[in-house]
Amino acid sequence: MIFRAPGRVNLIGEHTDYNQGFVLPIALHLETRVEARPATGGVLQVHSASRREMKAWAVESIRHREPQHDWSDYVIGVARELIAAGFEIPALALHIESTIPEGAGLSSSAALEVATALALLQGREFDRLELARLCQRAESNFVGMPCGIMDQYVSIFASEHAALKIDCRSLESESVRLPDHVAILAVNSMVKHNLGQSAYRTRVRECAEAFRGSLRDATLDQIRGNKHARHVVTENQRVLSFVEAASAGDLTRMGELFLESHASMRDDYEISCAEIDFLVDTAKNIPGCYGARMTGGGFGGCTVNLVSPEYVPDFTRAILRAYPQAQVIECVPAGGASVCG
Ligand code: GLA
Repeated sequence: MIFRAPGRVNLIGEHTDYNQGFVLPIALHLETRVEARPATGGVLQVHSASRREMKAWAVESIRHREPQHDWSDYVIGVARELIAAGFEIPALALHIESTIPEGAGLSSSAALEVATALALLQGREFDRLELARLCQRAESNFVGMPCGIMDQYVSIFASEHAALKIDCRSLESESVRLPDHVAILAVNSMVKHNLGQSAYRTRVRECAEAFRGSLRDATLDQIRGNKHARHVVTENQRVLSFVEAASAGDLTRMGELFLESHASMRDDYEISCAEIDFLVDTAKNIPGCYGARMTGGGFGGCTVNLVSPEYVPDFTRAILRAYPQAQVIECVPAGGASVCG
């Protein structure tokens, strides 16, 4: 059987998920596929096509494994969480393939976790929300990245042709239709600063310390003087305003909110970098572009851009002229994880 799980691009609501706030991602057609075949000898065997590497572990030993700080941590992290949840890991040979660029902020890790979890479950019943939480735990407990729930959640629950507004407190979500007359383009800066993981961890800690309770409930008055907390409070409001603007088909307002979100990540939350700022500044001056912002954890990765469809070829050319190493990816909202044969 083959199981697939998509990557994502977050439209707006950055670093709000671990503050119990709102996010608005879409799933991508870029995805990770895990093919599972029965194996013998009580062994879990995993082959990564992109790494051209094969690893194998005795199923019995999985609960005692230590992180190796490579791609296999996602697989073992998920397997260990499934064991902790009472599931037995079958002897399987897994083959992993992915079209999601790694380290681009498009959630290749969450897609790998979700597709692996489905493959290890082999069609056995499992609550989908619990599955999202389990994959999030795998990433924070075993991989060591204390992420929020957005990436795993959207990889499981996304619906085609719509964005997903997730309330990261209640963990409820709703589909948000985007105006028809707009293209969503991700522009990969190809930059991946090592700073990412440690800065992420620092921001998570700072946010927890900034306010008694969660920043979801804070007002600007209550966190005055703390610019990192201010980003979270204003960003949450921007998600709600963006959803309103999208429902009204107000592309100009949606674009403004993108630019405000980027300025807030750059100046208040301090998670942007020169290459990304350059891409956003370039994009906003290209005809047909409503707005641009960094998407994902920060310090590199991709920008996301709202562009009038007839301007897509010109926009792409202008970006590549200004920043030749960029990769432009057209994003059409895809459906969540599934079995595909
Ligand atoms: C990473 C994390 C998410 C979220 C974003 C920032 O993608 O995995 O949980 O915090 O960064 O919005």
